[in-house]
Amino acid sequence: MSQKVLLLPGDYIGQEIVPEAEKVLARICELYDLDITTESALIGGSAYDAEGYPLPASTLEKARAADAILLGAVGGPAYDNVERDLRPEKGLLRIRSELGLFGNLRPAIMYPQLVDASSLKPELVAGLDILIVRELTGGIYFGQPRGIRELDNGEREGFNTYVYSESEIRRIAKLAFELAGKRGGRVCSVDKANVLEATVLWREVVTELAESYPDIELEHMYVDNAAMQLVRAPKQFDVIVTGNMFGDILSDAAAMLTGSIGMLPSASLNESGQGIYEPCHGSAPDIAGQGKANPLATILSVAMMLRYSLGSPAAADSIEIAVGQVLDKGLRTPDIAGAGEAVVTTNEMGDAVVAALSNVT
Ligand code: NAI
Ligand code: MG
Repeated sequence: MSQKVLLLPGDYIGQEIVPEAEKVLARICELYDLDITTESALIGGSAYDAEGYPLPASTLEKARAADAILLGAVGGPAYDNVERDLRPEKGLLRIRSELGLFGNLRPAIMYPQLVDASSLKPELVAGLDILIVRELTGGIYFGQPRGIRELDNGEREGFNTYVYSESEIRRIAKLAFELAGKRGGRVCSVDKANVLEATVLWREVVTELAESYPDIELEHMYVDNAAMQLVRAPKQFDVIVTGNMFGDILSDAAAMLTGSIGMLPSASLNESGQGIYEPCHGSAPDIAGQGKANPLATILSVAMMLRYSLGSPAAADSIEIAVGQVLDKGLRTPDIAGAGEAVVTTNEMGDAVVAALSNVT
């Protein structure tokens, strides 16, 4: 039976990079004889323009029926004055929560061709390959109660609640252990168990679950130390698993170790293995419509989609190898070009990956 992929380009450069990724997907389907059908729908500002809502019911319906979703990016200055609940970003938050995407995977991989773009010395990042597994639907970003309240003395206080149930912790830790089993075999669980009681439970549950994964090496680390280690000696990590807020911060820091935001894919998975795949960057209004956007983060998101939702890891590997070859040939969009280096357009970069695929497979 054929698998369904929903394409949600979104706004600004989303509409330039998703078509490049679509070309790559079409070519990989030919090469691997994969039966994948695609359809497109609106999300974000473009959905608001057409229908008055950032996540139309028809888009959500198509998303539920899809095996995987490839998303560009949403938002931008055209929507700055839109009422809060109808903002493009609301569409994204809503589709993530409607689909129950609890597991956010953010790889930070250093391409040898781009080591000079890293904020760290080449020897610290050469060969870097880490995977951050961030819990996405719980923790302090969602915990109740939350808000701003007035105290008896008339002063106001802001408050949020850090809360994780055992099942939420087990679910994300299980995902991390299983992913680690397919790569370096090591998991570092990040918490703040010396200060936050809620993360004492996190540590307990992760430790208990580790007994079911005797081949995985588990280490615990406090988040402040983890932040330090990430910039001191990032290659010590394989898989990092952590809660929503710590993961938000650590994954952004890890992203910068590898240089350009234009190279970073992500996946967000639910319990049935369905997922949204998207670049880590936003809609880059400053470069939209100029052929300057780097499509590789979105193309690498297609690779993650094939690996994690569509059961075609070999096809995923081929895309990643093709991207490496294109970089080897010296093709660079402006965001990854060194001073004086020649640059290619969004479209040329996409075409080059498509062409490289024929040699890889
Ligand atoms: P941004 O990631 O869109 O851009 C930051 C900088 O990186 C800009 O200079 C941009 O030109 C550059 N950049 C981003 N992606 C690139 C690519 N593929 N190739 C080359 N250069 C690239 O973040 P910013 O400027 O904070 O946000 C712009 C809009 O995007 C806002 O409306 C924001 O809300 C939205 N946004 C959407 C996200 C999503 O849809 N998941 C995530 C982050 C921001
Ligand atoms: Mg963030």
